[in-house]
Amino acid sequence: MCGIVGYAGRRDAAPLIIEGLKRLEYRGYDSFGVATLGSGIELVKHQGRISGYAGSAHQLHGKTGIGHTRWATHGIPNDANAHPHLDCTNRIAVVHNGIIENFSSLKRDLISRGHRFRSDTDTEVVVHLLEEAYAKEHDILVAVQNTVPLLKGSFALLVIVADDNRLIAARNQSPLVIGIGDGENFAASDMTPVIEYTERAIFLEDGDVASLKPDSVEIFHDKIPVTRPVELIDWSPEAAKKGGFSHFMMKEIYEQPKAFFDTLNAIDTDVLPPAARHPSSVTVLACGSSYHAGLIFRYLVEESCGIPARLEFASEFKYFPPPVEGLVIGITQSGETADTLTALRQAKAHNCTTLAITNVLGSSVSRIADATLFMRAGPEISVAATKSFVAQLAVLMQIMNAWAGRRWAGVLQHAHQSIEDVLHIDLSAAVSLCVPAKSIFYVGRGPFYAVSLEGALKMKEISYIHAEGYAAGELKHGPFALLSTETPVIAICMPGETYGVMISNIKEMKARGAPVIALGCEGDSELPDIVDVFIPVPETHRFVQVLTTLVVLQLLAFYTAVALGRDVDKPRNLAKSVTVE
Ligand code: AGP
Repeated sequence: MCGIVGYAGRRDAAPLIIEGLKRLEYRGYDSFGVATLGSGIELVKHQGRISGYAGSAHQLHGKTGIGHTRWATHGIPNDANAHPHLDCTNRIAVVHNGIIENFSSLKRDLISRGHRFRSDTDTEVVVHLLEEAYAKEHDILVAVQNTVPLLKGSFALLVIVADDNRLIAARNQSPLVIGIGDGENFAASDMTPVIEYTERAIFLEDGDVASLKPDSVEIFHDKIPVTRPVELIDWSPEAAKKGGFSHFMMKEIYEQPKAFFDTLNAIDTDVLPPAARHPSSVTVLACGSSYHAGLIFRYLVEESCGIPARLEFASEFKYFPPPVEGLVIGITQSGETADTLTALRQAKAHNCTTLAITNVLGSSVSRIADATLFMRAGPEISVAATKSFVAQLAVLMQIMNAWAGRRWAGVLQHAHQSIEDVLHIDLSAAVSLCVPAKSIFYVGRGPFYAVSLEGALKMKEISYIHAEGYAAGELKHGPFALLSTETPVIAICMPGETYGVMISNIKEMKARGAPVIALGCEGDSELPDIVDVFIPVPETHRFVQVLTTLVVLQLLAFYTAVALGRDVDKPRNLAKSVTVE
């Protein structure tokens, strides 16, 4: 939630920061702002999105500055609540990603000491505390170091003060990376705004405070200078651009064969900790799409490897922790989802061995877990998870492959070709049924039930049509009451043990008037005759069918949302990285 970017260099800071914020907009997009060290602090901030913005922020002066794109937590999206926030003297500016949990008491005390607040945000307490510390110390680095211990909660902070060319950065439980350039340095929520200028990155640790000047980066922990490793980020700058596609989501759907193949071949299961090599059981913790990847895994690992698996919403696990032991896998593409991080910390506290699956090098989850397997999906900009989901499945399938004596190595090596095959499938008839619908049901059985949940999530997330995934046999236990000629059902009906019962379920739905769109295998002789729209996918291994049916449902959601004129890459009310509980 919220993206922040800062610059200290020799170029004009404002245009660089604005471009950087556009790259970070997937983290939040209800308001934005930029502050630079020009003639004093120069500031522009607005409600609304920075994409397409061509206003006066571009004209701000100065070679040092900070910017913010917001996903509101405290205070409605408006100009006053947009960051950066200024102190009472208008000499200090702050941007913040995270939540200051003790802001109410801090605010009360600050008001009693005479501070004037101009926003409803939790963040503003930080800048007034800095004002007091700076008045005492006359050094912004020391002021930040003295202020940070007063804050409870999660924060990545960037701070500038008039008449000082330093950019100060502080991190606690919110992501913050420093990009090391040539005569210029950057600080940002992630590397997407920075990869254009440098591939050298330092991921700050919780409790670090850094001071950036054009030619130097100094990092302190408990006020003591520390060195942190410089990592090379091999994401290409092009990966964070649309590259000729109308939407990032479309580009990312089309990148899935590569994301799957690259991830599959980057995963070295030999480095798994001992407890993850031959587990007798496994627990998976995740949220949203990552939870659905976990559900697919649960079905496949139990059916194919005979290993009992349990899956929990990370958001529930914290408050209702079941007894856990052994191997716990946390799945989070961003590596920053607050619920998943908390749940993994708890699992560690229960002496479990924790394994993280993430797409982001240096992300918080990789610091918490005992071991991390990194996906190779590249930056995913669209809020809806697509290629990161497929890459999660690549990791999970590779883990299962290792547990089953590499039995599926051949199948997995060719899976990307089947994904490629479904990218160009004609979905126009199915889209025509979905566009006018107020509600859509998705049904499947086993791993395809999990696929149907993910298909429904994609549809509701980007088209705003109500969509529900159901285990196919459950529809008749209540939801049948909602079926009508205006309620399409999307059924995933693949060969195997459940094929016959799925056919019966589809007939039951048809008998209640529901139009049925069925995904089945090429050459299916029965489905085309009983459904309204038949979408054939290649007849392949079960693991691969999970991938191909999933990709078809992503495309169906995408085309439906485009036909409805939705803002596909930035759906309303959402943010890609959910760093609050
Ligand atoms: C999926 O399209 C969503 N954007 C969302 O459900 C997401 O998967 C969820 O917030 C978890 O994110 P994570 O993988 O970064 O932890």
